[in-house]
Amino acid sequence: MIRKCLFPAAGYGTRFLPATKSIPKEMLPIISKPLMQYGVEEALEAGMTDICIVTGRGKRAIEDHFDNNYELEHQIKLSEKKIKLNGINKLIDDCKFSYTRQKEMKGLGHAVSTGATLVGNEAFGVILSDDLCIGGNGVSLMSTMVELYHEHQCSIIAVMEVPDHQTQNYGIVSGEYISNDLVKISSMVEKPTRNPPSNLAIIGRYILTPDIFDYISQTMPDRNGEIQLTDSLMIQAREKTILAYKFHGVRFDCGRVDEYIKANNFFYEHYYRECKSNCASASVNIVG
Ligand code: UTP
Repeated sequence: MIRKCLFPAAGYGTRFLPATKSIPKEMLPIISKPLMQYGVEEALEAGMTDICIVTGRGKRAIEDHFDNNYELEHQIKLSEKKIKLNGINKLIDDCKFSYTRQKEMKGLGHAVSTGATLVGNEAFGVILSDDLCIGGNGVSLMSTMVELYHEHQCSIIAVMEVPDHQTQNYGIVSGEYISNDLVKISSMVEKPTRNPPSNLAIIGRYILTPDIFDYISQTMPDRNGEIQLTDSLMIQAREKTILAYKFHGVRFDCGRVDEYIKANNFFYEHYYRECKSNCASASVNIVG
């Protein structure tokens, strides 16, 4: 069983300034639900009930969101509005939340290693909640990755094909296909400026074995002083099997303003009206 899911959420979200001066990027809403709530729902659907969040200064709204608000509930308890809290209240009931702080923003690898105290010595999921992923056939990306983990018992990274001109924005992997959508990774490079080894780009879902913490501690900072998780995974891939799973669903990089707007439009078009008229039957519950 994979019980724990780590949410690195300490970044400054500078692309959304000034909104993110006091509001964490992870709390920006898609329609009426914060990005991070989608991520926690995905984790829970995949069976992960221990939600481990790496926060930083100015991120207190995350803790408040995943906690009861008795005053508000009391105020709306006799009105129809109370169903709007059903979704978040279910997460609060079904999950256990724990937090730790990353004191300096030294990159995703560093953020993941900061979470080691919460994760301990077991395999765990990682969700970057600004990467909004909608799986096909109602099965979330993380649920598929958990199944693959059970079969292969190794670190698994989600990837997507991107156009050639976008490879420089991502960690890029290459290797040998062991089935249609599964690649055994032999090479990995963070944001290649030229000659990318493929067009398979790493997206914000991982299942990591706990030895990743040793590999992170062996990783040299990049020229910006950040520890890149991709570099740590490359060290792991030299010694052990790591698989990349090719995701075919819909994904929005909501860390970018244009994709964030697209995600809002997409959810409005596909779910919002349906959900407003009948929340229980909507495939993605956007109101609660
Ligand atoms: P990003 O690079 O997309 O987030 O990191 P950012 O730095 O907050 O955004 P910009 O570029 O300034 O707009 C991806 C994820 O990793 C987390 C972020 O919070 C985000 O969820 N992260 C990144 C950390 O937790 N710590 C870090 O040091 C860096």
